[in-house]
Order: sequence, then structure tokens, then C-alpha cells
Amino acid sequence: MDQRDGFSNKFGVIAAAAGSAIGLGNIWRFPYVLGQNGGGAFLLIYLFFIVAIGVPVLLSELLIGRKAQQGVFGAFRVLAPGFKFFKIVGVMGVGAAFLILSFYAVVAGWTIEYTVLATANQLGDKSPAELATLFSDFSSSFWRPLFYMVVFMALTAAIVMGGVKNGIEKYSKILMPLLLLIIIVLCINSVTLDGAMQGLSFLFKPDFSKINSDVILEALGQAFFSLSLGMGIIATYGSYVQKKENLLQTAVSVSFADTLIAVLAGVAIFPAVFAFGIKPDAGPGLVFVTLPNIFNQMMGGYFFAVGFFILLFIAALTSSVSLLEVVVAYITEELKLKRKKATIIGAFLITVFGIFCVAYPVLFTSFEWTTSNILLPLSGILITIFVGWFLGKKQTRAELESHGSKIRMIGLLMLILKIFAPIAIALVFLNNLNLI
Ligand code: TRP
Repeated sequence: MDQRDGFSNKFGVIAAAAGSAIGLGNIWRFPYVLGQNGGGAFLLIYLFFIVAIGVPVLLSELLIGRKAQQGVFGAFRVLAPGFKFFKIVGVMGVGAAFLILSFYAVVAGWTIEYTVLATANQLGDKSPAELATLFSDFSSSFWRPLFYMVVFMALTAAIVMGGVKNGIEKYSKILMPLLLLIIIVLCINSVTLDGAMQGLSFLFKPDFSKINSDVILEALGQAFFSLSLGMGIIATYGSYVQKKENLLQTAVSVSFADTLIAVLAGVAIFPAVFAFGIKPDAGPGLVFVTLPNIFNQMMGGYFFAVGFFILLFIAALTSSVSLLEVVVAYITEELKLKRKKATIIGAFLITVFGIFCVAYPVLFTSFEWTTSNILLPLSGILITIFVGWFLGKKQTRAELESHGSKIRMIGLLMLILKIFAPIAIALVFLNNLNLI
């Protein structure tokens, strides 16, 4: 057997998993989906899903990968040889990776365009209305978004080719903390704007009349999307984690970091949304039209704008690397191709899908909606059932305690995995389809 590539230490694992989780989902998607779904009430449901379902599913994926020492396909084969059915989690995962990365790379391309615009000081002299027009003109054009999407995919492929330790880990470790720092500075600037209170109350004050089955489904989908769940990515990372690491602690730290960044992004964005008269439900352009307004009001705004878009681009890169990694792990482990070849094939096919997303916005939105709200939670159900019912308490405990100390609350965890999480996800689906 080859020695598996691995993470060098605990910080490396957390940084890489957080690097996967923290991305456009937190800074681009979370604020705009929250804005479209009523604000504070969405936040509340979202937080509930992160704690009650997100953390247990994240933990389950890490556990499956580490126990099997395999990417997601091999993992189910090793752990449940008699149950070919679970292979579907891997199949849906590879499918979802394709679809997600093909729109993700488009938005990541926007971050490159905005880095260029910010550097050339073309955002600095614009009014809020001009910034809105700038975004809608750019995002509905074809060649430039296409060009940046291809550049982005090429960079993603280059990192994935480098392998785990030299590629993914190295970049995540330095850059994620820097991103946090810039967001905090943005938050401080944002809450001192005139009219900031209105934004904060939109974000934090739940208006329960806004809750309906769509809002609940969107919150669940966003929780899965943001934590990178339901696709075997985290399982693949889990297979690189050493036995001496505490998985529960890793899962909690990653979820906490991810949620913190999303909420901070909300704090940075919503006060500015109200201060500059932007609509909170403006949709996918929200970050790109809101933040330049804050930069324009800040001391040293030019440098913060450049720094922010570079870091957002890098956050997207560490996430897209994890998406491509799933596909590459599949091709290398199942089809036995070399890593380099697998990466080129995977990246090429996804780029082709990406071209369709640039050309047809309706594909973009339907890939986005279907993957996060349907595919990811659906495999979430299977993952929790697998750990809850097939691995069971004894094996789960053994794997969770492999670092040598006892895990508390295993009873509660099993209850969530066996019963609560699968039923809750199923109810959200059925309710959304108006079946209950
Ligand atoms: N979680 C990432 C983000 O928030 C996106 C992402 C990376 C993802 N890997 C994933 C989403 C796997 C779902 C599944 O930007």
C-alpha cells in the first residue's frame, strides 16, 4: 500500500477543512440568501440547523473518511461491503461537485474582475447607483466573465495537482486568518455608518411572520453548502486526518469558524445595505454592489478594496480546490488514473459546464438551487443514517475516541444521527413540496 498523503498536524486539518468551508458561501451566498429570506428569522433557523444538523453531519463525514482511510467511494465499500446502495452518496457527491464548481467558478471569476477593477481604482469614484449598474452590466456580459472563470479553474487545477500537504494546506493556513482580519475591519466601518442600526436589526431581529417552508429549506441548504457537507469532501479530508486527532473538536472548531465568518459578513454588509439604499433582497450581486460603497467611505479604502477582493478570491480558491479534490480522488481511486491526468480531465469537464453557466443565468441559478437545497441535504440523510444505524454506537465511539480520551454526549449524538437529523431533513423536504 502507498503511504497516504496526509495533513501534518491538527491546525493543518482545521485550516484545510475551514478553508473548504469558508468561501463564497459565507461572504457571497449567505448575505444574499439571508436578504432574500427575510433577515433575522432566517439567521435563527440557520444557526439552529448548523448546531443540530451541520455539526453532526460534518463529524459523520470526517469519521467515515478517517475510519476507512479512503475517499468517499472507497469508504462505503470498505465500511459496508454488503450495501452497494450507499455508493449513491459518492455518486451524488461527484455529480454535485461538478454542478457546484461550475457556478462557483463563475462567481470566483467575478472576484478576479473586482480585484482588477479595485486595483485600477475604477470602483473608487462611483456612486451607489453606478456600482449597481457596473455589476449588472458585467455579470450579464459573456467574454470577460468567461475569461476569468477559465483562469480561476486553471489555478484551482494547479493547486490540486500539488497534492494535499504542499497544495491545499499551505495556502489555507496563512490566508484564512488574514481574511478574518479584513472582515473585522469592514464590520467596524460598516456599523459606524449612518443608518447602521436598521441593517443590524434586519440581520438580528427575527420577524417570525417571514418564516415559511421556502425560508426553512433555504436555511437548511445554506447550512449544508456553507459547511461543505453532503458531498464526501469532508470525508475525503477525514481520510487524511491522523488517528491521534480529536474529530469532535475538529468538527466543532470548523463549524464555529465558518459560522463566525458568515455572521461577520452579514454585519459588514447589512448596515451598508441600508445606509446606501441598496435592496437587501438584491440577489447574487449583493456583496459586489454593497461593499465597494463601504470602501469608498473608508480611510485607505483603496487598499482595503484591493485586499478584500484578493482574499475573497483566495477563500473561493481554497473551497474550489476541495470541490475539485472530490472529483480527482474519485478518478484516481476508482479509475486508477494518475493525479495529474485526473486533475486535467476533471477541471476541463467542469470548465465546460461553467461556460454554460456564464451563458445561461437560468442554469446558474438552477444548479445553485438544486445542489444546495436538494442534493446536499439528501446525501446528508444517507450519511447520518449510515453512521447512526450501520456503523452504530460501538464503532462510532471507537473511532471518535481513537485519540485516547473519552467523548461525552455520545448518546445524544447517536440520537441525532439515527433519528433527529434524517427525520428533520425529510420533514423540511416534504413540507416544502407541500406534502405535509
Ligand atoms: N463551503 C464552500 C463555501 O461556503 C463551498 C464548498 C466547498 C462546498 N466545498 C463544498 C459546498 C462541498 C458544498 C459541498 O463557499
